[in-house]
Amino acid sequence: MKGIILCGGAGSRLYPLTKITSKQLLPVYDRPMVFYPLQTLLSAGIREILFIAAPESAGDFLRLLGSGKEYGAKFTYEIQDRPEGLAQAFIIGQNFIDDDNVALILGDNIFEDDFSSAISKFKSGGHIFAKKVPDPERFGVVRFNEKMQAEEIVEKPLGRISDYAITGLYIFDSRVVEVAKNLEKSARGEYEITDVQNWYLRKGELQATAIEGEWIDAGTFDSLLKANNYAARKHAQEARQEKTQNTQAQGARKIANQNV
Ligand code: G1P
Repeated sequence: MKGIILCGGAGSRLYPLTKITSKQLLPVYDRPMVFYPLQTLLSAGIREILFIAAPESAGDFLRLLGSGKEYGAKFTYEIQDRPEGLAQAFIIGQNFIDDDNVALILGDNIFEDDFSSAISKFKSGGHIFAKKVPDPERFGVVRFNEKMQAEEIVEKPLGRISDYAITGLYIFDSRVVEVAKNLEKSARGEYEITDVQNWYLRKGELQATAIEGEWIDAGTFDSLLKANNYAARKHAQEARQEKTQNTQAQGARKIANQNV
């Protein structure tokens, strides 16, 4: 399984924060945003990762992340000349994907869940992850039947057809490159990732799983603030856990020493 982190887009909803830098480089608590999706892929065991960035910020990503050696991984970089939709990532990443399966994650998506098992079990077709949210119309949505099988996928529906937003992590087999190449632009002028999902859904080869953990698409001022608060909470929680573990280990050492 290879991984792609898409760091393109104009970030217009975050203007002027994004006037001179890329959205995915903005701070989220103690690190640049892109570190969160990177961690999601690394934790899932993916070691070959392609970053796709806009021409004006690709150099910043390279300076920040380097070869990947520091992370025990191999990083490569490609440029997205014009942002024309998420599905473009598979065309830009064609040579990188080659004949392998690929997990695409959006550079502004922050996940709490661990995807190791979904990624190691994946064989073919497509797998998407949905999250129940109060404002699904902001996203691509998936409607499930009573057996929790995906029935319908719509990009930013006008009315409420489901409470489940489709999150920005997608796993596909290598056919995705040809699927993306054959797409037509949508009414908003983009190659839509939901059209790729619909191709696999029509073939009966799309798995959709609901996730329980926190998920934030940090593309607006409010969701960026939410992401910062979430990351700060997580950080404090981990620090507390570490402290408890250290105290326990110290206690155990003391008892062991007393017994000597
Ligand atoms: C994109 C996708 C949408 C998906 C969302 C997840 O929307 O088009 O299907 O639900 O990412 O973050 P965008 O953020 O580009 O509007």
